[in-house]
Formats: sequence, C-alpha cells, structure tokens
Amino acid sequence: MTQQPKVLIFDSGVGGLSVYKEIVARLPQLDYYYLFDNAAYPYGELERQTLIERVERLVSAMVAKLKIDLVVIACNTASTIVLPKLRAILSIPVVGVVPAIKPASSLANKAVGLIATPATVQREYTHDLIRDFSQNKPVEMLGLTRLVDIAEEKLRGKSVCIEEMTQLLEPLIGKVDVAVLGCTHFPLIKEEIQSVLTEQVMLVDSGLAIARRVQELLAVEFGQGERGKREIYSSATPWQEDALNSALSKLGFSPVRPFPLEI
Ligand code: DGL
Repeated sequence: MTQQPKVLIFDSGVGGLSVYKEIVARLPQLDYYYLFDNAAYPYGELERQTLIERVERLVSAMVAKLKIDLVVIACNTASTIVLPKLRAILSIPVVGVVPAIKPASSLANKAVGLIATPATVQREYTHDLIRDFSQNKPVEMLGLTRLVDIAEEKLRGKSVCIEEMTQLLEPLIGKVDVAVLGCTHFPLIKEEIQSVLTEQVMLVDSGLAIARRVQELLAVEFGQGERGKREIYSSATPWQEDALNSALSKLGFSPVRPFPLEI
C-alpha cells in the first residue's frame, strides 16, 4: 500500500473537528492526527504572545515527530496571528482558517454578522479583512467565549439551551442577513444558531474552502484508497473524557492520548 499524506489538524479544543469533518468527507484515505491545546483553552481569551509561542511549540513538535505533510490551523483565533511565523519555521504547507468575510459580504443585502471569539473580533487581521472585502456592507461583530463552551458541551452530549443562545446572539437578531461563523467551534452548533437567528439569516463558514485547499495542496484524488489513520492528542487531560471519547469514536478516532508522551 502506498503511504498516504499525513495531515495535522490543530485547535484549542474540539472546534477543529468541524474542519476535520469537511476534509475527511473528501479525503478519507489520508492519515489524520488531531491535536488540541486544551491546557490553554480558551484561545479567545489568551494573551497574544503566549498564544503564538504555544502554537509554534506544539505544532512544530508534532510535525517533527510524526513527519506530518500538511498542517491545518483549524482555529480562527490562532490563524489570525500565527500563520506568518509558522510558515517561516515549517517547510510543509500550513493552511489557516480565517473568518469568511469576503463570501459573506458578497451574499449579504443588508449587513453581515461576525460571530467569533473575543480575540478574533479584536484582531487587526479581522479588521483588515472587513476593510478590504466588505466596504459596502456593515459588519456587526460579536465575540463570545460562552458560545465556544456551549459547542464543547454539546459534543460531550449536553443539550443546548436555546434561551441562553438567544440572549447571547441578541445583538444580531433582526440586524443582519448573513452571519459568519468565525470560530471553528460554531459549525458544531450551527443548527441551534440557525434556529435562533431564523432561516432569514444565511450562515457562512470556511470549512469547505479549507477542504478544497488541502486537496489542492496535496494534489490527491477525491476519496481514493483505503481509510487512513485517525489519532487524537491533547495537551491536558480533557474534561468529561469518557463522553468526549465516545463522540470521537463516532468520528473514527481512538481515545485521546496525552501530548507529547506517546508520540
Ligand atoms: N476554535 C477556535 C477558533 O476558531 C478557538 C476557540 C477558543 O479556544 O477560544 O477561534
């Protein structure tokens, strides 16, 4: 059997699984390694320099030990600041996930909502995206760590409280006709966000574009060959580990292993 490319997907928590799902649906034959830095979660509230240093250290260690061929930084909060540094130190392609402002703005008639982490809505990178790609449509930004926690809880089997979500998303209700899911955790609670914002609002995320980019960079065929490996690592013991592992097994992963002990 020919060796398949190895892809590392990185996030602070389970959000990157939304990106993984898009990629694996097109390219099940690749080997996937997922690393989440839950020791420093939530990234949306982490000091900038600390975040840059952590991502650099964890990702470069994984890439070296597992001989990774391509990295996906499946986190908007990290991608909006770490990509230049990572690309400078790694000799493999690094794909980032940033808020889909450009497609959202072209789809909107009225205004765009950007739902992201508190850090992402403050980033210069995000403000530049808005300035360059949404000149004619106002962008209402909403930075919410609680929404990230809700996605973590949902993956572990907890049902989402729609009243709480309605309170959190209240600033956007009736004000925007397109909303960007600018955090990779949010596609995991897309149905609930849609029900709160109503069908009048179109939700846009970057998952599919990332999957296409990975396929293009690796120059591999859609769904060719046997299913590859799926391993998952965390930087600290995850909370509700059993519930998490049972959700992960449905996505084809073996139980979470500690980073970097077993690699
Ligand atoms: N999933 C992340 C993002 O796309 C980060 C969430 C967090 O840790 O705050 O921004």
